[in-house]
Order: sequence, then structure tokens, then C-alpha cells
Amino acid sequence: MNLDKAIQELPVKGYLDLPIDKNIDIIKEINRLRKEKNVVILAHYYQVPEIQDIADFVGDSLALAQQAAKTKADIILFAGVHFMAETAKILNPDKKVLLPDLLAGCSLAESAPKDKFEAFKKQHPDYVVVSYVNTSADIKALTDIVCTSSNAEKIINSIPKDKKIIFAPDRNLGAYLIKKTGRDMLLWDGACEVHEEFSLEKILELKKQYPQAKIIAHPESRDYILDIADYIGSTSGLLKFVQESPSEIFIIATESGILHKMKQLAPDKTLIPAPPIEENNERACACAECPYMKRNTLEKIYLALKYEKPEVTVDAKIAKKAVVPIQRMLELS
Ligand code: 13P
Ligand code: SF4
Repeated sequence: MNLDKAIQELPVKGYLDLPIDKNIDIIKEINRLRKEKNVVILAHYYQVPEIQDIADFVGDSLALAQQAAKTKADIILFAGVHFMAETAKILNPDKKVLLPDLLAGCSLAESAPKDKFEAFKKQHPDYVVVSYVNTSADIKALTDIVCTSSNAEKIINSIPKDKKIIFAPDRNLGAYLIKKTGRDMLLWDGACEVHEEFSLEKILELKKQYPQAKIIAHPESRDYILDIADYIGSTSGLLKFVQESPSEIFIIATESGILHKMKQLAPDKTLIPAPPIEENNERACACAECPYMKRNTLEKIYLALKYEKPEVTVDAKIAKKAVVPIQRMLELS
């Protein structure tokens, strides 16, 4: 049997669903394969703890894009969601980029479909288009400059005052940036299903219980959550705030995966995840979890490394256009 051909033909329905020998030490195997194949494993703070702990680098969207831009590895394994791996591929068209589960999407990126966005852009031809990194390659190809939550304010401020701006796709981050920069931007009506679900009532109840707690929130959260926050920032900003603040207790309004790194870097602080409106008994805590980020597992990472599948690909013409606004962002960051 031709092994290469058999591997090429492996059925990938989003991810490899092959049996794994129960006798293998999966972390040992991941370490062997990553070394043998010169792989860099990049993980977002929302990944499960065991994935964060084996990654070469854990970071926010901007730091992960920066790592992807400068890596010397032959293969990038992205433990995150599709738009992140796609960004890495756009920056490295000649490298293999693996996403352990292609179904790890993003509700925010999904909220801006290409055709609708293209028509919207055509209606406003004299606008500068700023897109959040949580978008598909197609949207980035229609964008003038990309941003993430950690550099969005700087990017908006870099645009000449006489220029009109479209900001897509997150209406919450967009509204927050209008307040921060005073720029009158046209907002796309998209949102993150995870950050939109925090309960104001439950957060205020917690604040009553722990009056000394600082409320900290990701700017993808709704305005009524941001209005009561003591600090607003990207995942890395929230992490830094917890480490550096003299406060002992924090109520954290973002995806609960970030608590793992917070506990590691600030072990003496009390960290309370902000509760969502709807509680889900399947979750380990009354906290917000991104179902897309949580699709990745150590088992899927092992199989992806072993078979070098599933691979993220981007049409060459789209990638050539999409790399321009990403590079602009990296130069400004
Ligand atoms: P940052 O890590 O850039 O803050 O983004 C959060 C997020 O929602 C990633 O999907
Ligand atoms: Fe997308 Fe929200 Fe999940 Fe981040 S937390 S990947 S914005 S759905």
C-alpha cells in the first residue's frame, strides 16, 4: 500500500477522527512529532489548560499574529480558531498551517459574510475600512487596515481625521472605540456570542458580595458591562491588569480560558469568572466558554501533527490582497 496516498486520502470531516493507541503517552508523542517536523505550536488564552501548557507560545490575537509573522518553523500548528490560523497562513503562504479542528470557527467572523460586506462597502466608497482580526480572509481582502482589541485605538487614531471610517464586524468594540477616540464610525452589526452573554444582574450581585473586587472586561462585551468595568482590555491587557493591580479580587468578563494563565501568573489573587445570562450545567463553572475555541483537544493536536492534517488554505489571489492590511497593522503595532 502506498502510505503517502493513504495519508492523502484520510477522511477529514473538519478534524481527524481516528482511533489513538491507548498505550501511547500523548504529550510525549506530541513533543516527538513537533521536534521531528520543526513545528511551532501557537495557542490562544481561551484554549483548555492542557493545550496552553504544551504550547510554544500562548498569547492574544495580536501577539499570535506577530509570532506567526516571525516564525522559522516549517509547520505552524494553531491551537485557536479558524481566522487566527488563516491569518498565519496569509503571512506564511509557503508554510503548512494546521488547525486541529477546522470547525473551530468564530461567531464574530461569521457575522460578516463576504457578499453582504462587499455590497456595504460599495455603498460607502469613500470610507477607510478597518476590520477586526476576527474576520475571514475574504473580508480582510476588502479591508484597508486590520486591528485587534489590543491595538484598535492606536489604529483608529492613525487614520487622518478627515477620513470617514467603516469598522467591522464587532458593534460592541466599535461603539467602545467611538467613545474612546471620538471618531464617528460606521459600524457593521456583528457580535461575539460569548461576550454578548454576560449578565449585568449577576455581575452586580457578585460586586455586592465582594465590594472590593475590580470588574474587568473584554471590549467585545456589551456597553452595559463595559460601563461598570474598572478596566477594559484585550486578553493580554486583562492578564497584565490582574498581575499589576494592587487589588486582590477580580470579576472577569471574558472567556474563562484566560483564568488558567491568570492563576499561573497571579496565584495569590482571587479570580471570579463573570456569569453568563444562561447557565449551562455541562460547564465546569458558571462562566462563559467559547464552544469554537474548546473544539481543540490534545488528541486532535496529536493527530494533526502525525498526519499533517487538517490544513488551512487560502486562495492565493485573496491572500495577496489580505496580507496588505495585516502587514499595515503589524507595522503600526
Ligand atoms: P484578544 O485575545 O485579541 O483579546 O481577542 C479575543 C478573542 O475574542 C479572540 O477570539
Ligand atoms: Fe469568536 Fe467570540 Fe469565540 Fe473569540 S470568543 S473566537 S470572538 S466566538
